[in-house]
Amino acid sequence: MRIDILSAVPELLSSPFSHSILKRAANKGLFEIYVHNIRDFSILPHKQIDDYQFGGGAGMVMMIEPILRCIEHLSSEREYDEIIFLTPDGELLNQSIANQLSMKGNLILVCGHYKGIDERLREHIITKEISIGNYVLSGGELPAAVLVDSIVRLIPGVLNDETSALSDSFQDDLLSAPVYTRPADYNGWKVPDVLLSGHKANIDIWRHEKAVERTLERRPELLKNKQN
Ligand code: ADE
Repeated sequence: MRIDILSAVPELLSSPFSHSILKRAANKGLFEIYVHNIRDFSILPHKQIDDYQFGGGAGMVMMIEPILRCIEHLSSEREYDEIIFLTPDGELLNQSIANQLSMKGNLILVCGHYKGIDERLREHIITKEISIGNYVLSGGELPAAVLVDSIVRLIPGVLNDETSALSDSFQDDLLSAPVYTRPADYNGWKVPDVLLSGHKANIDIWRHEKAVERTLERRPELLKNKQN
């Protein structure tokens, strides 16, 4: 998979992909990521990329041309499956969207700043709009990093233990069961006996029960999704 991110503040994205699972995925050749500075595609003096909004009002709007020139440059070299704009008024990111996107080949992510991007880009160029939650951030870079992480860890071969993504919270509309590590008794705080029993079937049953219990307690609406 290849992901190209368009940003007015590429420095914000210099670190999130250079560590841990994402770094390993890139080293294994399972995923490539490129961050492009939108400013490099401006043909205006001072590399301008934003302007006042028509009709008046506070806040600048990102102009069509630099973003479009960057997308055209990338699209002339390969086909993209989706051109995604990160925006608080997009579709709310969930595990199912991450699963679908992890099966794609090439993606472009566009990060907005200021008041957003010119609406005509959204009408004619953007193919999907994603929000990472019902709150407003200063730009699309952190949401883009969240989206990339949620997608890349699902690419087959990225996680060492192939089954570990499958047992994540949300992967089957259930939250995860609690987990424990050594010591088995920390000053009287004990690990549940069943996990020490070595009885695989009982452990699976216990984990499933705990997952259902936790989901009912904390996120009952997830269980309703499951019935539909
Ligand atoms: N840009 C600003 N806030 C955002 C959000 N919540 N999700 C996606 N993009 C954003």
